[in-house]
Amino acid sequence: MLVGLGVCLPQRSVTNDELAQRLDTSHEWIHSRTGIERRHFADAGTGTVDLAAAAGTAALKSAGRSSCDLVIVATTTPDRTCPATAPEVASAMGLPSAAGFDLSAVCSGFVYGLSVGASMITSGAFRSVMVIGAERYSAIVDPDDRTTAVIFGDGAGAVLLEQGEGTGPGAVLGTELGSDGTGRDLITVQPGERYLSMRGRDVYTRAVPTMADSARRVAHAVGWGTEDIDAFVGHQANLRILKSVAKRLGLPDERVISNIGEVGNTAAASIPLALAWAADRNRLGPGDRVVLTAFGGGLTWGSAALHWPDIRPVHG
Ligand code: COA
Repeated sequence: MLVGLGVCLPQRSVTNDELAQRLDTSHEWIHSRTGIERRHFADAGTGTVDLAAAAGTAALKSAGRSSCDLVIVATTTPDRTCPATAPEVASAMGLPSAAGFDLSAVCSGFVYGLSVGASMITSGAFRSVMVIGAERYSAIVDPDDRTTAVIFGDGAGAVLLEQGEGTGPGAVLGTELGSDGTGRDLITVQPGERYLSMRGRDVYTRAVPTMADSARRVAHAVGWGTEDIDAFVGHQANLRILKSVAKRLGLPDERVISNIGEVGNTAAASIPLALAWAADRNRLGPGDRVVLTAFGGGLTWGSAALHWPDIRPVHG
């Protein structure tokens, strides 16, 4: 059962026009190709740990809880390679002995984490699991590379999962995951390199059919037709990708959730940030049939089907 949702965005919001002052680009190019208008960048003193802990603490508050048994942090941008981010996040959240580990599935990390977290609960291994997607892409994006600098942003989002009966509001009904390592070089930080490189056009071409197939599979697995989906919350990589996927699924634009204009591509944080954005605007209501679908580096992809809970997101 999904019982809480928390998010955290760094304060500093950077517009396309601001980027265009030092890069050979324009608001018109960025907005028409991606839907992005601005993104948030963390300041030098704010790490992925800080964003993750703020989102996790906000999710506990949203659920009216003070603790959980396991913290999973999905991130591509840990502050350190070793040790993992999650134990430090758990400590910062005031959970001195909760289990914690990181999950690496790039932009699909949150959906992977949701699948793992829900399975941990179903198996009886844990009673409550915090799944956090947290990213500080500004640390791995070359500020002088217009092909990536305009796309990515920083932020974090978290959901609290608990044991629960039935298929009512909050129930995570099904998940499906996939990967294809032959596409490993499409989005990559090469050994010895500091910055991310991306073959955007190739990613785009692969993302659309793969996301549509994944969304369709998870919907069918839980007994829904695609026309039953009340809200499609895809990874916010590009508004054109989301619209193309929705078209393949036969979904009208009003069932497609997109906050990419305000936050850019926040990788593993993208779906929980979009969920909070939609819930704040009453675009999600208790019992709504929601499909989450992600696609990203690896290549990785995944979907989840759930009934939206009766909760309010908290902003950390
Ligand atoms: N401003 C202006 N021009 C830019 C630019 C920018 N910020 N970035 C690239 N260009 C130029 C390119 O250099 C190229 O110029 P050329 O034709 O002279 O070589 C031209 O624009 C077209 O580049 P292309 O990469 O083909 O553009 P596109 O329409 O595919 O859009 C993306 C680029 C990145 C927006 C798009 O491919 C995309 O969103 N891909 C998916 C990315 C994604 O999902 N990533 C994350 C997955 S988790």
